[in-house]
Amino acid sequence: MKALILSGGKGTRLRPLTYSGAKQLVPVANRPILFYCIDNIAQIGIKEVGIIISPETGREIKEAVGNGSLWNIKIQYIIQDIPGGLAHAVKVARDFLGDSPFVMYLGDNLIGGGIDRFLHDFERNSPDALILLKEVEDPKNFGVAEVSANGRLIRLIEKPDEPPSNLALVGIYIFSQNIHRAIEMIKPSKRGELEITDAIQKLIDMGFTVESFILDTWWLDTGKKDDLLTANAIVLDEWLKGSINGSVDGASKLLGRISVGKGSVIKSSTIRGPVVIGENTTIEDSFVGPYTSIGNNVRIKNSSAEHSVIMDGSELRDIERMEESLIGRRVTLLRNSRHKALRLMLGDDSVVEV
Ligand code: G1P
Repeated sequence: MKALILSGGKGTRLRPLTYSGAKQLVPVANRPILFYCIDNIAQIGIKEVGIIISPETGREIKEAVGNGSLWNIKIQYIIQDIPGGLAHAVKVARDFLGDSPFVMYLGDNLIGGGIDRFLHDFERNSPDALILLKEVEDPKNFGVAEVSANGRLIRLIEKPDEPPSNLALVGIYIFSQNIHRAIEMIKPSKRGELEITDAIQKLIDMGFTVESFILDTWWLDTGKKDDLLTANAIVLDEWLKGSINGSVDGASKLLGRISVGKGSVIKSSTIRGPVVIGENTTIEDSFVGPYTSIGNNVRIKNSSAEHSVIMDGSELRDIERMEESLIGRRVTLLRNSRHKALRLMLGDDSVVEV
């Protein structure tokens, strides 16, 4: 069994954060989303992992992930030089995959729990595809499954105008080598891409077995701001372990699960967990509320922030109350106390609610 992780794409829904970086490296609880995918793959004992990268963000992904030694796996990077779709990525990885069955994992998908039970099922029943489904509110934005009353999979359609159900395809699949035959037979979709959804439908049409499971844990496709904040909150809630490796003065109050990285300093502040704080960050005369992730080298002074993600190198000064915000790298946010004018320098596609 091999694994193919898709980590290309342009990340248009997370702009402006993704102008300067890959969407799979946007942090959730201070770790890139992609790392959670690799955790899940390494955990089930897969050693050979291919990562699909794009020419635009490939270098950055390679630098962050390395050769796989962090997870004790072997990583091969495979460039997909055009955004040709998920099935196109499988085509590009054909040499790496050979005739091996494989787990395909979209690098911006996060699920609660691991994937071991699905792998065991695949090994026991040897279907040609195993897919995961999850009920969503907005099925039009996903691949959607039509299932019969007794739960049998009837049909799959990519981003339908009239969804036959609210069961979306989760971006984690397990395939036998027959998926390559199906991919050879499909044509580009309306959006001009070779869709993996169409390839799985082709497997069904050709009489191959496709098993589906309804995921009973949470699933987040972290493509958008609110999804990312929700993912951050869930991951902090479920997986954060408190540990203090920085310094906290006697005038500060820390409540709940809080992780403070090396070299960070907390002075005269209240932090209410779950909160993760990276390395070499300073928080002074401030309040940090639940579900907040603060990166490395951040400065927070005389401010209040909660339910937010603040990435490396940013600064908050005299900000009375910030919530549900996603702050990129090296952002400065300060209050202009002289009069009520806003003085802004915002990148393309920024959103500010005052
Ligand atoms: C892709 C798949 C879609 C699936 C989704 C899950 O969509 O095409 O079927 O439901 O991932 O994240 P995309 O992210 O390319 O819009």
